[in-house]
Amino acid sequence: MTPGNPAREVPPAMTTVTERDVLRDALGLLKDREQVAERLLESSAKHSFDPETELDWAAPIEEGKWFWPPELVSLYDTPLWRKMSEEQRMDLARHEAASLASLGIWFEIILMQLLVRHIYDKSVTSNHVRYALTEIADECRHSMMFAKMIQKGGAPSYPVPRLYHNLARVLKTVSTTPGSFAATLLGEEILDWMQRLTFPDERVQTLVRGVTRIHVVEEARHVRYAREELRRQMVTAPAWERELTRVSCGEAARVFSTCFVNPKVYENVGLDRREAVAQVRASGHRTEVMQNGAKRLTDFLDDIGVLQGVGRRLWKSSGLLA
Ligand SMILES: [Fe+2]
Ligand SMILES: [Fe+2]
Repeated sequence: MTPGNPAREVPPAMTTVTERDVLRDALGLLKDREQVAERLLESSAKHSFDPETELDWAAPIEEGKWFWPPELVSLYDTPLWRKMSEEQRMDLARHEAASLASLGIWFEIILMQLLVRHIYDKSVTSNHVRYALTEIADECRHSMMFAKMIQKGGAPSYPVPRLYHNLARVLKTVSTTPGSFAATLLGEEILDWMQRLTFPDERVQTLVRGVTRIHVVEEARHVRYAREELRRQMVTAPAWERELTRVSCGEAARVFSTCFVNPKVYENVGLDRREAVAQVRASGHRTEVMQNGAKRLTDFLDDIGVLQGVGRRLWKSSGLLA
């Protein structure tokens, strides 16, 4: 907590207009917010990438290399997987990589709108707003990079089902600030966990390793920004908003796990869609992968009071929380 009269010690660039921000001033939270953003801006200046020039897009696809580590492919270690040829498994990995990249672009487009809404009423000269703009610029490059990777791999893009596409239209227009940051973390942390296993993996295509490496480096800052903001929000937001965050975050986890891999990938590699979906659902390995991927996030959400009551039950029904 800031000693003396905290409101007077906050530089003019950091003062904002809402009553809740006055409360945050008093708690020293805006100062903390500015310091976090300053560090993130410094790190962005040092470690940001232009995928256009950083990656060799003209290099041919490598024979015998995976587009996604096999252990992270949804059907891995199921009876169906054991019946598939190596070629069919690699083909499924290529389609799942395209499906996950499509999901990533969907999230990033939603996130860009949430960030734009988040800064709309804030001081334009603050570090916090400047960092949000930096993150939006990162996400613009990421979405173009993912789209290019999909095209290069030769699999189609995989949109989420129409219902969820439209539900997200509502979410990105009306969600509250803590709800937005909780959804952001959900979109970022699980895919990030998978990408951390992908970029060092020598069995994987060089291009995919490059894409995931860039994403992991830049995404670490996004996760920090969203976590710090959500932590502050869960201290200062009114009770109804905190409760709404718990429920909406649990529902988002449910939608997330449903949309994670588009089942059309199974059809596109010549498998029976129903059978494949049923085997993925029954797979102990897959449950473990998804729960391990979510662990860092669920520990954090639990710590700041998001995983309680109905919200916690929704998380459990998503299969992402043991
Ligand atoms: Fe991104
Ligand atoms: Fe991000």
